[in-house]
Amino acid sequence: MTELGLRNDVYRRPLATALDRLGLGEGWRCVDVGAGGGDVTVALAEMVGHGGRVYAVDCDPSTRDDVARAAAPHSQVIALTQAGEDVLLPEAVDLAFCRFLLMHVLEPVVVLRRMGQITRAGGWVVAQEPITSAGRIDGEAFSMPEARHPDVGALLPALVIHAGLEIVDAWAEAPAGAGSGPVRDYLTALTDVDPGDEPVVLPPLVTVVARKPEAPQS
Ligand SMILES: C[S@@+](CC[C@H](N)C(=O)[O-])C[C@H]1O[C@@H](n2cnc3c(N)ncnc32)[C@H](O)[C@@H]1O
Repeated sequence: MTELGLRNDVYRRPLATALDRLGLGEGWRCVDVGAGGGDVTVALAEMVGHGGRVYAVDCDPSTRDDVARAAAPHSQVIALTQAGEDVLLPEAVDLAFCRFLLMHVLEPVVVLRRMGQITRAGGWVVAQEPITSAGRIDGEAFSMPEARHPDVGALLPALVIHAGLEIVDAWAEAPAGAGSGPVRDYLTALTDVDPGDEPVVLPPLVTVVARKPEAPQS
């Protein structure tokens, strides 16, 4: 799968909103599951600083080189080739994050449950996934037949609860535009189709910010 640096631009706002919502800061331990080219990994690394750590996990070994390149100045980034379904880390993390991942996996709830298992009690699990068919090009709905669950964003809050996590906040956000600009550039790079001056609403990204429940007092 081609990774697009542009994705980080057009979907930057929901990412920033989610990270602000958590208060992500210096020293946090994080994992970016399905890290791809590492756009989110780099954003996390900048925020946690050299005292923190970011594991970039992806099942595709070729992404390790992309992440290594993107994260070169950040020694706190560790790239691992693992599947999200059974990811194993040397320490519990404060934040397990995924974006545009659950739409591709066999069973999204299995990955969310695993993300909860590798997070410390009271820590954060954040997922950002699209409702592809709610996007529009000149009024026509988007489709993405190669994705297993192109509309998984619409189910995300329920999946997070089924994974045993507590929702703190959830919302949807969609970049939109017409004519030249980042939305048109993103779409052209993604689909090879230039929408020209037609109006485009990219697929809304549903963000769910959740916590792993604290361990019961004994
Ligand atoms: C569309 S890319 C998203 C990249 C990045 N999260 C972003 O938002 O820019 C999806 C990534 O998920 C990875 N992936 C797909 N299934 C996976 C799985 N079961 N476990 C781990 N990674 C997976 C793919 O290899 C790909 O790099």
